Amino acid sequence: MLSMAPISDRFSTFLLLSLLFSCVHGQMNQNYYKKSCPNLETIVRSVVSQALATEARMGASLLRLFFHDCFVQGCDASILLDDTPTFTGEKTAFPNINSVRGYEVIDAIKSQVEASCPATVPCADIVALAARDSVNLLGGPTWNVVLGRKDARTASLSEANSDLPGPGSSLSTLISMFAAKDLSPQDMAVLSGAHTIGQSRCFLFRDRIFNDININTSFAALRQQTCPLSGGDSNLAPIDV
Ligand code: HEM
Ligand SMILES: *[C@@H]1O[C@H](CO)[C@@H](O)[C@H](O)[C@H]1NC(C)=O
Repeated sequence: MLSMAPISDRFSTFLLLSLLFSCVHGQMNQNYYKKSCPNLETIVRSVVSQALATEARMGASLLRLFFHDCFVQGCDASILLDDTPTFTGEKTAFPNINSVRGYEVIDAIKSQVEASCPATVPCADIVALAARDSVNLLGGPTWNVVLGRKDARTASLSEANSDLPGPGSSLSTLISMFAAKDLSPQDMAVLSGAHTIGQSRCFLFRDRIFNDININTSFAALRQQTCPLSGGDSNLAPIDV
């Protein structure tokens, strides 16, 4: 009889119910796998660290993989789903194809996590942790990752094509694309700080360095050295000097 119980009893009943509720509904939190997969964060960090030792750029690639996952129907690892004869995923979307990298690093982490705690941790949480560790291992900040995502069973090629920002997007288009994900212009500016790390292919920024007037001219001249008016489409340049 809830209504007749003393306050403290009613409070503990409430606590018990909230606890049950959060277990049943799997409320997200930082310690989601503390009991079920205690080595999760150690495994992720060590595989990312090995990948960065082979190629530092991989840290940038893993961060972008997370962004491109999250902007299409949420952070649900939908970007990882391969095409089959009866299923089309997001990997061939224009912003992703020949551009998003790091799938094999996520696969390597997932195998080690499965070996340590089978069928427990979704890829979506692994992608979020790998992005965090990448930034931190490259000398950037760290942050706590709330865990308990669910992996997608679907993906959307059309949403990947429509929702991910492109190199030719205007400022107002970019602002509305972020607003569509409940992100403010300030969020967008902060998140774009991700471009402190990583590289871009020449053909994606050629127009800027040859035709923009609102650009630092010595920076444009510097980039023109490896990104000519014609040819060298896939030449890479650091996004931030
Ligand atoms: C504001 C809108 C954005 C646009 C228009 C944009 C566009 C691009 C383009 C064109 C590239 C080069 C891709 C290539 O060479 O194939 C790139 C790379 C990159 N982007 Fe963005 N991006 C945006 C926002 C973000 C955000 C929010 C993040 C992460 C929080 C991010 C992380 C990265 C990283 C780390 C790279 C380098 C990847 C690598 O070296 O493999 N970008 N971006
Ligand atoms: C312009 O670009 C050059 C080359 O990247 C850089 O050294 C310089 O600091 C930049 N100037 C300004 C005002 O940002």
